[in-house]
Amino acid sequence: MKTTQKIATLLVTALIAVVFLLGNAAQAQAKAKAWPVPDKDKTMKATVKLADASVIASGKELYAKHCKSCHGSKGAGDGPKAATLKTFPGDFATAAFQGSTDGELFYRVSKGRDEMPTYEKKVPDAGDRWALVAYVRSFKK
Ligand code: HEC
Repeated sequence: MKTTQKIATLLVTALIAVVFLLGNAAQAQAKAKAWPVPDKDKTMKATVKLADASVIASGKELYAKHCKSCHGSKGAGDGPKAATLKTFPGDFATAAFQGSTDGELFYRVSKGRDEMPTYEKKVPDAGDRWALVAYVRSFKK
């Protein structure tokens, strides 16, 4: 074999390996499992007015700082960090997501699970965490 042929063979082999590895990595991102919330938290009522423009605006600011890196600017689960996660962060525009009660969303943001961080300490004001709930509601289509 000529050297150029050898190099070409090597490059093709390397390319196939890369495609294979990328394919596997993409497949490795699991769909999130059901996330049950205790009954008393499920029916919890917001301490701020979720429909208020000022509440949604402060939720937007907090979201940009704490959530966008994983969840993406439209909540589609496509932030710059999303590809590095083992679990798909979810799509906030879907009926499945929007079908959760406010209390369920508040609980999940507060407590976290696995790769989803807990925000009880990072966003210590409960009103601010409710504002985040108000903002993720705005992704509804
Ligand atoms: C490091 C990446 C990361 C960051 C940052 C992050 N999340 Fe998540 N989030 C996830 C992942 C992954 C899941 C899925 C976890 C699971 O189901 O086990 C998730 C799940 C959720 C859920 C539950 C989804 C559902 O179907 O009910 C909500 C709500 C949520 N995140 C909101 C937020 C908010 C609000 C912030 C910012 C305050 C935030 N997340 C920051 C990765 C992240």
